[in-house]
Amino acid sequence: MSYAAITGWGKCLPPAVLANSDFETLMDTTDEWITGRTGIKERRIAAAETSDMAAVAGRRALAAAGITPDDVDLVILATCTPDRLVPGAAAMVQEKIGAGSAGAVDVNAACSGFIYALVMGTALVRAGSADRVLVIGAEKLSTWIDLRDRSTAVLFGDGAGAVVLEPSDVPAGLMASELGSDGALADILTVKGSGTEALVDGTPGDTRIEMEGREVFKRAVTTMGDAAARVLAAAGLDLADVDLLVPHQANARIIDATARRLGLGEERVFTNIGSYGNTSAASIPIALTEAVEQGRIAPGSDIVLVAFGGGLTWAAGLLRWGERIEPVGESSAMLPSSTESGMELIRRRQRAREASWDG
Ligand code: ACO
Repeated sequence: MSYAAITGWGKCLPPAVLANSDFETLMDTTDEWITGRTGIKERRIAAAETSDMAAVAGRRALAAAGITPDDVDLVILATCTPDRLVPGAAAMVQEKIGAGSAGAVDVNAACSGFIYALVMGTALVRAGSADRVLVIGAEKLSTWIDLRDRSTAVLFGDGAGAVVLEPSDVPAGLMASELGSDGALADILTVKGSGTEALVDGTPGDTRIEMEGREVFKRAVTTMGDAAARVLAAAGLDLADVDLLVPHQANARIIDATARRLGLGEERVFTNIGSYGNTSAASIPIALTEAVEQGRIAPGSDIVLVAFGGGLTWAAGLLRWGERIEPVGESSAMLPSSTESGMELIRRRQRAREASWDG
């Protein structure tokens, strides 16, 4: 049987930081509230576009795998913040990394998108339809932050992470997975202003995030905990076998409650939400990359991935790491340079938003 192992990993975090103390000057909030309710201390704000961050993370993952862009058969980009609706941002990534004439496709399952993309890439490699697949999660959620809504503005950040999938004869990669959705709950977490509905019955361009936070919170905890337990059982493993839980980073309290529901102590849970906030589809590949870099993943580690997001969608996977935890090489890929601070970027974006939506 052939498997689809992760052979490369990489991340791209834009340099501009927006701290909780910055939000204190932008709206009626406090560092204490944000930290206590979410675990977030700061987040990154991108000057570049989603495809730029995706391309840098992708180049770094290819270097870590020791392969060139020409070797890539397919780019799958999980994002709900593409540069444009058409073409998909994956095609822009293909061009930016110089991936020959590789296939390119966007996947939008909001915060669950990376696991969805990983499941699809894995299936194609295992079926022999593609040899080398670059799976990326990249988001520029700061575009949708509306500084007039303090309940959502403080939650989100920008970034990208990527992995390379290659065929393997030894068991590695996704060993079990589950994808799910409940479209009846579409309205409890939504961005309405950029689709076909907006032209008929809405405000085109009004792409602010609308969310019923408490409802999303409750469902996230039960759904993520239960889906993680099911993939573990499907892989024939139990809790004692789990080396690390890498959950979607939406809220530290959601992560803690999910881990408690599963019965995992914090030493087996990876968390970096304090530094980046919720980066939606980018959060799991960024977390995976940092977990390898920090020595939290060893050869053969069994890792539970689980996510939950707009749709509502959810996804979980049991990922067995391969033999290599050191990158083969490093990439010098960088984002286009920008000197704007996080505050300058977010203020400029808000002015543009208010001019176009409210004008
Ligand atoms: N600063 C200060 N006070 C605030 C802020 C803020 N930034 N935001 C809200 N509040 C206030 C509210 O107005 C409310 O005040 P009131 O009691 O006087 O009315 C109070 O804090 C409590 O508000 P709640 O919404 O009940 O707070 P809660 O504890 O539920 O935390 C939060 C809110 C952090 C949004 C939480 O519900 C949450 O994390 N939900 C899940 C969000 C999520 O994870 N989404 C993931 C998917 S995203 C995707 O798919 C793209």
